[in-house]
Amino acid sequence: MNRPTVDEEITDTELEAGRIAFARPWHFVKTCVRVDDLPPADRIEIAFAGRSNVGKSSLINALTGQRELARTSNTPGRTQALNIFESDGAPWRLVDMPGYGFAEAPKSQVKQWTSLVHDYLRGRAPLRRLFALIDARHGIKSADETMMNELDNLAVSYQGVLTKADKLKAGDLGKIVEATEVKLRRRRAAHPRLILTSSETGLGIDRLRAEIARLA
Ligand code: GTP
Ligand code: MG
Repeated sequence: MNRPTVDEEITDTELEAGRIAFARPWHFVKTCVRVDDLPPADRIEIAFAGRSNVGKSSLINALTGQRELARTSNTPGRTQALNIFESDGAPWRLVDMPGYGFAEAPKSQVKQWTSLVHDYLRGRAPLRRLFALIDARHGIKSADETMMNELDNLAVSYQGVLTKADKLKAGDLGKIVEATEVKLRRRRAAHPRLILTSSETGLGIDRLRAEIARLA
């Protein structure tokens, strides 16, 4: 039977669909420094964006169950391009976006990232949803606001994902979830449901998989 889970909107059937969708090998396709480098628009795209070090690459590894698929690092700004991942038979590809809000980045580099991200968000027809990653310890920062303003302006559908939940106590988690949801609810292109995750413990990963499987 299809019983509702804790999150009333995701059913066990959807969780199972998400599990199956990601239970296949994923591979790195390419690094794109400009939109002309992107693969053909032959399948939908799910993008992961957020400040440097928020855990984008780690989340892609957790979703696919492949620890070394996307490169992770303690050095902010590691992912400086659009990195593309695919799986044979999966109707979507995953796009690891360059991190923003990296204070020490040279100006020229910031400019290049910004124009790449802007070109991608503005002109990429297959982009179905962007997951906006927010560090659960910090909540929405001004660099995130800037990104979300752009997403709202371009009418790119996005959904908030809190990362690194394992770094907080349960009581603090409740507060940050609520505060973040309040902010997201005011935004035009934001999805109402926020997903709380930890790539370290696996919290919320099944839910995120289900959300993605739903989009296919
Ligand atoms: P850039 O590519 O530089 O923009 O960073 P990113 O957003 O891809 O972050 P990445 O996945 O490389 O993770 C940055 C650091 O945070 C790494 O040291 C990860 O191990 C750590 N990290 C990522 N996710 C989690 C998490 O859920 N819990 C904990 N405790 N650490 C995490
Ligand atoms: Mg990265």
